[in-house]
Amino acid sequence: MLIKMTKASDIKSSEITPKAIFDDRRRFLKTAAFSGLGFVAGSIAPSSFASEGRGKKLIGIEPSKWTQKSVGEKLTDYESVTSYNNFYEFGTGKQDPLTYAKDFNPKPWTVVVDGEVENPGTYSYEDLVNPHTLEDRVYRFRCVEAWSMVVPWVGIGLADMIKRFGPKNNAKYVAFETLNDPDRMHGQRRRVLEWPYREGLRMDEAMNPLSFMAVGLYGEELPNQNGAPIRLVTPWKYGFKSIKSIVRISFTKKQPPTSWNMSGPREYGFYSNVNPEKSHPRWSQAKERRIGEFLKRPSLMYNGYGEEVASMYVGMDLNKFY
Ligand code: MTE
Repeated sequence: MLIKMTKASDIKSSEITPKAIFDDRRRFLKTAAFSGLGFVAGSIAPSSFASEGRGKKLIGIEPSKWTQKSVGEKLTDYESVTSYNNFYEFGTGKQDPLTYAKDFNPKPWTVVVDGEVENPGTYSYEDLVNPHTLEDRVYRFRCVEAWSMVVPWVGIGLADMIKRFGPKNNAKYVAFETLNDPDRMHGQRRRVLEWPYREGLRMDEAMNPLSFMAVGLYGEELPNQNGAPIRLVTPWKYGFKSIKSIVRISFTKKQPPTSWNMSGPREYGFYSNVNPEKSHPRWSQAKERRIGEFLKRPSLMYNGYGEEVASMYVGMDLNKFY
């Protein structure tokens, strides 16, 4: 992100991969080279994932149409998803969230809902999340730093949650805020960003069936480092839109400010849709490194979700509205 001076493409694979996986891959590469095997993209994924994690199991997950089968790609292993994170509230290093979010207790949790809405108020986590109707969503997740993962999330469609709040007709945007509590989130003692972390979506983006409020991954409660207890996931946008540990959802008439746009307006726009043709000013977005893989792969427009989202941007100049 902004304060990172190395280009994403310069990151050594040993830096972006937990050591055990890196060693495994080296072993695989050696074997592959020895046996004359090449790489096969999109290897066969395991059919069940619920047993691989370590958090509390979530009950009642309804399989959705955005399943692993529909993504057709190998899941990023649990260890990588939970140990290679961006969560600046707990430090700017990739392993900092795993280390420093350990003692963060995300329960009890409340979310304030305000602005242009019929049912404003302070909702408890339990008000918002019915454990019996959770869905699984396997999504590709593309970070602006040009790495990506495939993550099996668990949660609720954002549209379903929003409908309960009853947005008024003049609500054009939804703004989200992360908890601001430097006593519990030590990274907030440094002003690497203006806290709280803020994000926003246009109303139609928020209501798009892909937009998701995750409360878990790999069939288990969301680990702290991944944004417990509740975080956004918008898979066609760069990962920084997927704001973690949300405490406020506001419905607004005007486009809300967002953290990375405030911090570097030339580098991070409001929309931040994955676009391989629009380079970040300091690095290309044409390719990405899938965590756990060695070779880079081409990035896809809207991260491959064009069919679901492209119609929302018809007629917009994507060089201007990045
Ligand atoms: N949300 C908050 N509150 N603080 C952050 O620093 N980082 C963003 C996003 N959400 C961030 C955040 C970025 S840059 C990315 S790539 C994703 O979280 C990373 O999500 P993950 O750690 O679950 O992979």
